[in-house]
Amino acid sequence: MLSVLMEQNTELARLGVYNARAPRYTSYPTAVQFTNDVGQSFTKDALSALPIDKPVSVYIHIPFCERLCWFCACRTQGTKSASPVASYLDKVIAEIDLVAQHLPKGIKASHIHWGGGTPTILTPDLITSLTDALEQKIPRTKDAEFSVEIDPTLVDQAKIDALVDAGMTRASIGVQDFELKVQKAIGRMQSYETTQECIDMLRRANVSSLNMDILYGLPYQTQDSVLDTIQKVLELSPDRIALFGYAHVPWMAKRQQLIDEHALPNGETRYGLFRSMGAELETAGYVPIGIDHFAKPTDSMALAQKNGQIRRNFQGYTTDNLDTMIGLGASSISKYPNGYVQNAAKSSEYIAMINAGELAASRGVKITYEDRIIGRVIEMIMCDFAVDYTVLQREFDTNLRCIAQSLLYLQKEFKGFIEFSKTGFTITHSKRALARLIAKAFDQYSDDKAIFSAVS
Ligand SMILES: C[S@@+](CC[C@H](N)C(=O)[O-])C[C@H]1O[C@@H](n2cnc3c(N)ncnc32)[C@H](O)[C@@H]1O
Ligand code: SF4
Repeated sequence: MLSVLMEQNTELARLGVYNARAPRYTSYPTAVQFTNDVGQSFTKDALSALPIDKPVSVYIHIPFCERLCWFCACRTQGTKSASPVASYLDKVIAEIDLVAQHLPKGIKASHIHWGGGTPTILTPDLITSLTDALEQKIPRTKDAEFSVEIDPTLVDQAKIDALVDAGMTRASIGVQDFELKVQKAIGRMQSYETTQECIDMLRRANVSSLNMDILYGLPYQTQDSVLDTIQKVLELSPDRIALFGYAHVPWMAKRQQLIDEHALPNGETRYGLFRSMGAELETAGYVPIGIDHFAKPTDSMALAQKNGQIRRNFQGYTTDNLDTMIGLGASSISKYPNGYVQNAAKSSEYIAMINAGELAASRGVKITYEDRIIGRVIEMIMCDFAVDYTVLQREFDTNLRCIAQSLLYLQKEFKGFIEFSKTGFTITHSKRALARLIAKAFDQYSDDKAIFSAVS
């Protein structure tokens, strides 16, 4: 048994699982391909061409936090004062107005997500103002889903009540790790009791769908410490768990320079941590979803997986299969049927554009027909670890010529790790860690000079 495991580890090492870097493929083409050629005029055309009878997704970015955790790679800034948050929110409300001027009248939103940063930095009044502004211009469908990212150290009953009044249906709670030594090393202190209190408040308010973010690959994590964290997670019993690999990218996220790199686990140890945490969650009854999610079997994500309906977007795995996501706020990314566009990333630039009465769209990329086919192949790999040619043929009416070269490459380089049949291919169960590398084989823009996060 031990020799089989060692052999498997050597194979994974040879293929680069422990040290290769690859995109997380939350979009295709990835953000590396964005240029200034695609911006405001593209966005105006894309908005006005949206079909009125198809609902859209809306993402709102709140780039403020009261604390700045050292490990965090999100686009956010620290503030202890309420005034920059309130004036930023005025701009988001003005942006909703500007975007709505180009939208077909009566278009609806069926998925809304507030992320950050920390949306729970908003006061109850601001939560209500933002909800009302959005509802006025892009009203919700009756059964709309509305999820919010919540920092348990920056929330109280009044904020949760305001969010529930606003229609919140799902909360995503940041935890990362419960071990004190690890928390100190990543500059994020958060007791078990604080997290529990937050969950109790949410459950009392009847927010039944809860997600929890946990990280592996953090400094000082050991097999014992991560299993202890998982034990505490299980006691709190969230419906979904995102088990993200810590992305150490200090050249992009400068605050990560505060993290002691010598205390980070190496690639193989990291992968071992993920395997044991995942196994513990599966033993407790959670279903693995894609590369880094777990859900209770009754959760809508687990049910969607059964039917091959899991999709991938900028927020990660989702049951949302809409063609359009309108991103609002600094740095947020919109997805249209024919392209991706990112808003000005710096809050100051975003505010200046909105003050000038302009859309904040700043850079993006058009999606060609071939991109769409390849993007779907990559999405299938990331979501289902398998590609079904019959589904592709049905969706695209294509002869699949554009993926032929990549298939030949996989048959040669990943022999033994992928099972091919006449109607598609499946990644061998024990080799699922290769998913990002296998997806990369289809990426026509793949650029090894671009520095992405570690694969495992
Ligand atoms: C916007 S934050 C969470 C919401 C809230 N601000 C909080 O801290 O609780 C979203 C999530 O991104 C993940 N994240 C942030 N930086 C990361 C990194 N460097 N590598 C992997 N995941 C990261 C964390 O799991 C975090 O909970
Ligand atoms: S993890 Fe959350 S609270 Fe910490 S810096 Fe990132 S967004 Fe802010």
